[in-house]
Amino acid sequence: MDSESYTVSLGNNNSEIRQKAESDFISFWDKQAKNLSWFSQWTKTLDWNPPFAKWFVGGTLNACYNALDIHQNTRAEKPAILWEGENGDSSVLTYKDLLDQVNKFSNALKSLGLKKGDRVTIYLPMVPELSISMLACARIGAIHTVVFSGFSSIALKDRIDDSKSKIVITADGGYRRGSVVKLKEIVDDAIKELDCVQNVIVFERTKIDITKNPKDKLWSELMKDSSTKCEPEHLESNHPLYILYTSGTTGKPKGVLHGTGGYLTHLYSTFKWAFDIKDSDIFFCTADIGWVTGHSYVVYAPLLHGATVVMYEGAPDYPDISRMWGIVQKYKVSIFYTTPTALRMFMKFGDAIPNSFNLSTLRLLGTVGEPINPEVWKWYFKTIGKEKCPIIDTWWQTETGGMMLSPLPGIETIPLKPGSATHPIPGTDLAVVDESGTEVPSNTKGYLVIRKPWPGMLLTLWGDDDKYKTVYWSKYENSYYSGDYAIKDEDGYFWILGRADDVLKVAGHRIGTAELESSIASHSDVAEAAVCGIPDEIKGEVIIAFVVLKQGIKKNEESLRKEIIKVVRNGVGPIATPEQIYFVSKLPKTRSGKIMRRLLKSIAKNDKIGDVSTLEDGAAVSEVQSAFDELKKSIKK
Ligand code: PRX
Repeated sequence: MDSESYTVSLGNNNSEIRQKAESDFISFWDKQAKNLSWFSQWTKTLDWNPPFAKWFVGGTLNACYNALDIHQNTRAEKPAILWEGENGDSSVLTYKDLLDQVNKFSNALKSLGLKKGDRVTIYLPMVPELSISMLACARIGAIHTVVFSGFSSIALKDRIDDSKSKIVITADGGYRRGSVVKLKEIVDDAIKELDCVQNVIVFERTKIDITKNPKDKLWSELMKDSSTKCEPEHLESNHPLYILYTSGTTGKPKGVLHGTGGYLTHLYSTFKWAFDIKDSDIFFCTADIGWVTGHSYVVYAPLLHGATVVMYEGAPDYPDISRMWGIVQKYKVSIFYTTPTALRMFMKFGDAIPNSFNLSTLRLLGTVGEPINPEVWKWYFKTIGKEKCPIIDTWWQTETGGMMLSPLPGIETIPLKPGSATHPIPGTDLAVVDESGTEVPSNTKGYLVIRKPWPGMLLTLWGDDDKYKTVYWSKYENSYYSGDYAIKDEDGYFWILGRADDVLKVAGHRIGTAELESSIASHSDVAEAAVCGIPDEIKGEVIIAFVVLKQGIKKNEESLRKEIIKVVRNGVGPIATPEQIYFVSKLPKTRSGKIMRRLLKSIAKNDKIGDVSTLEDGAAVSEVQSAFDELKKSIKK
C-alpha cells in the first residue's frame, strides 16, 4: 500500500450528509428518495425481512419517466446522447428526441402483445437503440435483460431461456474492430429450440443481408407509424426493472434482479456525490451497456440528472490507441469513467499520445471494475488529469446496483490514496471481517461485507431465492458477503485486494471458473479441466487452463488447443479465451474431490506451494508444477 496522498478540491464540503446518514440511515435514504419524481408516496421506507429488502414500499414511480419526461420542460433541446460509431458515424439525440423514440418503441412493444412483468432480452451493440430499448421496457413495466453482444449463442440461449423472454431485440450486425459481427445469426442460433420467444426485433445497424424468419420484425418498420405518445406505467417501487446475468462460483450465471425505487435512489445519489454532476458536464463512461456499469452509469444515473452522455460504439483502441483522447477532445468531455485495464493499455503507449490532444475540459476522472495499481492511478492523475482532477476509484458489483466505496468530491474533499477506493458511501455499512465474521484490526486482510441493507441492493436472484440466500447471506449471519478480500487501513480507507472466491476478473470482465471449466469439458476429448487466473500486466488477470484428456486420446496438442479455444469462444464468448492450455494427466484435488485451485494459482504465480496435506495424490502436484515450469520456459522465449 502506497503512503502517498493527493488532495484536489472541487470546492464542496457538505459534512451534514455523512452526519445525517450516520444518525439514521433509514430516514437518510427516505430523504434521498424524494429527489426522484413519484406518482404516489410510499408507506414504509424499508421493509427488511432478512435477507430480502424492500425500499419505499407502496410508492409508485417509473424509471423512464424519471429519466426523460421530467426534463421536457427544462432540457428538451439539450443533448441526452452524443453517439460516436466505431466507423466515424455520429448522431445527437436530445431529451425530446429520446423521449419520442422511446415512446414509439414502447408502443411497438405493446403492439406485439408485451405486457408489464414480461421479459425482453436485448442483444445489441453500443448504439442509442440499446438505451431506447431499455427505457421503453421500463416505461411499460417489462423487465429487460441485456446480454453483452460479445457473448456467444450458447451463453445467449441460456439467458433467454432462464428469463423466459418473449421478445429478443438485436441488430443485423455490429461493428467491432472494423469488421461486422453478425448478431442476428447468433440470435437465430440461440433461439432455435426456445419456444418462449415470440418475436425477434432487428435493428438495421449495418444493413447487411439477413435471413428473415416468421418471428422477425424490422426496427424501422415497427417504428414507422408508431405514435410518440405513450403513458408511463405507474409501478410499485419494488417492481423489477431488470435482470442482469453475472458469473459466480457455480456453473450457471446468476440472474441478478434489480428493482426500481431503491435502485434509482442509489444511482441518483451516488452520481451526484461521486461525479459532482452539473448541467454543463459532458459525461463519458467507456463501459459497454451489457455490463452493470453501463446500466447504472451510462443509461439510468446520467439521465436521471438530465446529463449529456457520450456513447461510443467500438473498441477503445480502434482504429488506434488515441481513439479515447480523440473523443474527449471532440466532445469536450468533462467527466471520464473507465477501467484500470484500459488505463494500463493507454499508459503502455506513453504520454506523447494523450499529450497531443486537448484534454483541458476534463475536471473529474473515475475508475471501476478491478483494483487499480498505484502507478497507473498516478499516471491517470498526472498525464490525463494534469493534477487538477480528483480520481474516483469506485468499488461496487452487479449485485450492489451502484457504488458502495468511492471518494465523493461532490460533497467532500479528502486526501486520495492511489489504489484505495477510500470510504463507504453515506448510508451504507461496510466492514472487513475474518472467517468468523468479527471485524479485523486495521491493516489486516479479511473479507469485505455489507452489514446493513442499501437501496441499490439486488431484490433476489431471478427465480431462485434459495440461491440468493446461499450465495450472499449464508457465510455470515445478517451480512452480505461480497466475495472480495479487503484491508481497512489506520485512516479507515478501504483497499480492495481482489476476489476471495472462484471468480476471475479478466480485463475487468467477471468470469466464473466453473462456467469455464464446464465449457472446456464439453469438448469430446476432454475428461476434466481446471482453470485459474494469473497476473497480467494489462488485463489484470489472464486465464490458464489445465486439461486432462480422456484415456487413449492421441491427438496433436497444438490442434487440440485450438479446438478447445474454439469451444470456449462458442460456449461463453471471446472474453473467456484461455491464454495458455496445459495438458496434464491428473488435477490436484483435495481428498473430498475438490480441485485445489489455490495450488494451481500458487504454482502459476510461482509462489510457495504451501500446505498440500489435503491433496488426494501428491504426484499431481509435481505434474502441475512441471506443466507450469514449461509455461515459464515458453514465456521466456
Ligand atoms: O472484485 C471486485 C471488482 O469487480 C467485482 C464486481 O464485478 P462486476 O459485478 O462485474 O461489477 C463490476 C463493475 C461495478 C468486485 O467484486 N471490482 C469492482 N470495482 C472495483 C473492483 N475491484 C477493485 N477496485 C474497484 N474499484
